[in-house]
Amino acid sequence: MFNSIAKQLQEAKKIVFVTGAGISQESGIPTFRGKDGLWRNNDPMKLATIDAFYDDPKLVWEWYSERRENIFAAEPNLGHKAIAELEKFSNVIVLTQNIDGLHQRAGSSKVLELHGSIIKIKCTVCDYKDEVLTEFSDMPPLCTCGNILRPDVVWFGEGLPQDVWQEAIVHANSCDVMVIAGTSLVVSPANTLPIYAKQNKATLIEINPDETIMTADMDLSIRSTTAISLPELVSVFKKT
Ligand code: OAD
Repeated sequence: MFNSIAKQLQEAKKIVFVTGAGISQESGIPTFRGKDGLWRNNDPMKLATIDAFYDDPKLVWEWYSERRENIFAAEPNLGHKAIAELEKFSNVIVLTQNIDGLHQRAGSSKVLELHGSIIKIKCTVCDYKDEVLTEFSDMPPLCTCGNILRPDVVWFGEGLPQDVWQEAIVHANSCDVMVIAGTSLVVSPANTLPIYAKQNKATLIEINPDETIMTADMDLSIRSTTAISLPELVSVFKKT
C-alpha cells in the first residue's frame, strides 16, 4: 500500500495527520456526509449554530446528549491506535476535526482539537469551563452563574480557537508528510491545512474509501478505510 513512499515516511522529521469523522466511523460513530451521515437526516443549521442554540437550547442539548452517549460508549479503533503507535517511530502531530477524544484515548500525545471537544462544556456568559463525562439531569444545563451552559465545540459560523489554529498552521507548514485521513475536506478552514503542507513541499497522502475534492493534489491516495490502512502505514516503520 505505502511502498511507493516508504522512504519519505521513514525519513520524515514530522508527520502530521489531519483527521475527520471517517476515522471514527469504524468505532461506530457516524460521519456527517455520505449515505449514513448525520447531516442527511439532521439540518446542521438547526443543530450546530449559535442561532439554533438560542432558538431551542433544549433541542440542541438533547442532540448533543445522544451523541455524547454514543461517543462515550465507543472505543478507539485500529486506525486511532496505529497513529498512537507511530509515536514510537516518528514525531507525530494529530490535527483533528473530531470532537470525540478517541485519538487521545488511543494514546496519541500531541492532538490539536480544531473543532473543540464534546467532553467539554462552557458557560455562554461567564468564564466557566469544565470536562463532564456524566449526563446532565436538566436540559439545558445551567451554570452556577444562572446562564445556559453549551458544548465547547465549534459551530458553523464560529471561529476556531485561535491559539489552536495558529499552532495547527505551524505544524502543517513544517511537516514532511501529511496524512489526510477520513475527512471530506469540505469544511473550512481545516481543509486549507494540506495547502500549508504543500508550501513546505510535504508529501500528501489521502486515506479515504472515496475521492475528495483534493484528490488531484495528493501524492498518494489510498482507497481503503483507516482501520485497515493505518496499521499498514505503521508496518512500513517496523520493516526497517
Ligand atoms: P465528513 O462526514 O464530511 O467526511 C467523512 C469522510 O470520511 C468522507 O470523505 C468519507 O468518504 C470518509 N470515510 C467514511 N468512512 C471511512 C473510513 N472507515 N475510513 C476512512 N474514511 C472514511 O466528515 P468531516 O470531513 O470530518 O464540523 O467533516 C468536517 C466537519 O463537518 C466536522 O468536523 C463537522 C461537520 O459539519 C462541525 O460540526 C463544525
